[in-house]
Amino acid sequence: MRALMAQVFTPRRVAALQPAIEEAVDVLLDRLGVAGADGRTVDFMDQFAYQLPVTVICELLGVPAADHDRFRPLAADLAEALELSADTDPGPAGAAAARELAGYFTPLISQRRMSPRDDLIGALVAARDADDGRLSETELLANLVVLLVAGFETTTNPLGNGLAILFGRPDLAAALRTGDVAVSGFIEEVLRYDSPVQVTTREAREENQTIVGVPVPEGSVLILLIGAANRDPARRSDPDRFDPTRSDVKPLSFGAGAHFCLGDGLARLEAAVAVPRLLARFPDLTAHPDRQPVRRDRLVLRGYQSLPVLIADPPRT
Ligand code: HEM
Repeated sequence: MRALMAQVFTPRRVAALQPAIEEAVDVLLDRLGVAGADGRTVDFMDQFAYQLPVTVICELLGVPAADHDRFRPLAADLAEALELSADTDPGPAGAAAARELAGYFTPLISQRRMSPRDDLIGALVAARDADDGRLSETELLANLVVLLVAGFETTTNPLGNGLAILFGRPDLAAALRTGDVAVSGFIEEVLRYDSPVQVTTREAREENQTIVGVPVPEGSVLILLIGAANRDPARRSDPDRFDPTRSDVKPLSFGAGAHFCLGDGLARLEAAVAVPRLLARFPDLTAHPDRQPVRRDRLVLRGYQSLPVLIADPPRT
C-alpha cells in the first residue's frame, strides 16, 4: 500500500503545488489583513494556520473548494482516534466521521473512473486499477480519508507553534525578515523544539527483541515519544534552547523508517512559503496583550487551539 501511495504522492507532484500554495497564502493573508484591520483581534489558528493546510490538501487531492468547511468537524472527530487510548475503537463520533468521509469520496472515485484527472484521487484510482490488486477498494477509500485528515490536522500546528515562539523572540522575527536567519533553519527548529506530533506507535512483530536493554515481547505496543527524542540531551546540545542555526537539529518529527511521514515535503513547503510572506506582510504582527493563547487539549497532536494576534496598530485617538 505504501509503495503504491509513494508512486503517486511524488516530490514532483508536491513541488508542482508551490504556485497554488503561494496563491493560497496570499489570499489568506489578504483576509487576515481585512479581519485584523483597525486593531481588531484575530485568531491566527482559525484564520490562517488551519485554513492553509486544508486548502492545500484539498487542491492536491482534487476536492472541490466548496466542500472544505464540511470536513473540519469530521477531521477533528477522526483525529481524536489518534490520541492514545487502551481502546482501539475510534468511538461513535470518529466512526460516524469515517463513514461520512468514505461516503464523500465514493462518488468522487467513480467520477475519476469515468473522466480521469491529474489530481491525487485520479492518480490513486488509476494506480489501483492498473495494479495487481494490492489496494482494495476499501483500502483506497481509507487511504484517501487518511490523507485528507493527515493534511488537515498536522501542518496547522507548526505554523502556530512557530509564530508563538517568534512572539517571545522579536530579535528572531527581525533576523528572519532580513534574511540573517534562514527560514528553513527556523522551520526545522520549530519542528524539533515543539513537535507537532508528539507520539507515534509500533507493534512488535517479532519475538525476543530488546530495545536499549528493555525486552520487548512479540505483540506489545510501543509508544515512542517523538517530542522527548527531539530534546534528547545525549543527541543535541542544550536541547531546551530554541536555536534556528543549530547544526544538530535533525528533527524526528516526521517519524522514521518504513512509516516515515508521507507528507513531510508538503508540510515543509507550506511552512517555507507561509513564514516569510506572513512576516513581510505584517511587520507589526504581535501577540494580543490581554488574550492568552490556548493550547489544544491533546497529547499526540501538539498545537494551539487559539492564538489571538494583532496585525496592525490600533487606531490612535
Ligand atoms: C508538520 C506536519 C506533519 C507532521 C509533524 C507529521 C508527522 C507524522 C508522523 C510522526 C507520522 C508517523 C511516522 C512514524 O510512525 O514513523 C506520520 C505519518 C504519516 N503522515 Fe504525516 N505529518 C505531517 C504532515 C503530513 C501531511 C501534510 C500529510 C499528507 C498530505 C501526511 C501524511 C502522512 C501519512 C499518510 C502517514 C502514514 C505513513 C505510513 O504509515 O506509512 N503527514 N506523519
